[in-house]
Amino acid sequence: MRNLGAGVRKAAHAVGALLEDPAQGLDWFRNGFEIVRGLPGGRGEGLYRPSEAPQRRLHELLGASWPCEFQDEFDVLWNSVVTSLEAQGSGFGERYDSDVALAEANWCCVRHLRPERVVETGVARGVNSRVILEGIERNGTGHLWSIDLPPVPDGWRTQSGAAVTQSLRGRWTFLEGSSRRHLTPLLADLGSVDIFIHDSLHSAANMRFEMSTAWPHVRRGGVMLADDIESNPAFALFTRTVPSSPMLVARQDAMKRGFFGVVVKA
Ligand SMILES: C[S@@+](CC[C@H](N)C(=O)[O-])C[C@H]1O[C@@H](n2cnc3c(N)ncnc32)[C@H](O)[C@@H]1O
Repeated sequence: MRNLGAGVRKAAHAVGALLEDPAQGLDWFRNGFEIVRGLPGGRGEGLYRPSEAPQRRLHELLGASWPCEFQDEFDVLWNSVVTSLEAQGSGFGERYDSDVALAEANWCCVRHLRPERVVETGVARGVNSRVILEGIERNGTGHLWSIDLPPVPDGWRTQSGAAVTQSLRGRWTFLEGSSRRHLTPLLADLGSVDIFIHDSLHSAANMRFEMSTAWPHVRRGGVMLADDIESNPAFALFTRTVPSSPMLVARQDAMKRGFFGVVVKA
């Protein structure tokens, strides 16, 4: 019922968006349709056994030393992300905002792998975009491409990318619209990527589309992260197709209570 309600709400949003921007309106219609169509597939919680020590396991997968040498930097950064969003007046951590566990995993992947090309889908206020861009800035090399169909609710729409400071935007390309529209041509342009992150529409069809489209472009030793994998079985089905690539499932923080997954390309 929760998903059905979300599908109907998204379709209603789409009508408003269609009038304002026809391409985005169509993207939102497609979203609503995919959510409703995905219902028979059910959710995916029961498919995963989250790691007891996810950060340590992540470092093993990355071939990085543990404890993480970049942990203190992350703690300071996270504090600054949260306070800067809170200062914008609408609190932090509600609805679309990423949780700290995924952000920390992104931080460690960026700092340890020193990527040249990172692609993410799903920006909202840009919590992870900021974390990734700060990591890239400290590395002194790399670029982030983010695809986002901005949220329709007003408070969220006007705050699209709000966490990303001006000083970080030189290494950032923001593509507005759905991943269905932008992901394939973007990856064809880039060729290979070091890190791909899915955090847009968590319908089974969209997650399958993004993971199967991005994976051939992820370089060996590169990483794919996917948030909210408990929403449906797509991540579990995907990882079965790449059995030689090590993976981990981690819990989000106590407020979100979902899971995210990480796969390192063998
Ligand atoms: C969970 S939020 C992303 C959170 C973000 N990664 C962060 O770090 O806080 C999901 C975002 O994906 C956007 N979105 C929804 N459907 C999409 C689609 N089909 N393609 C791209 N973005 C989409 C939503 O509007 C929202 O901005």
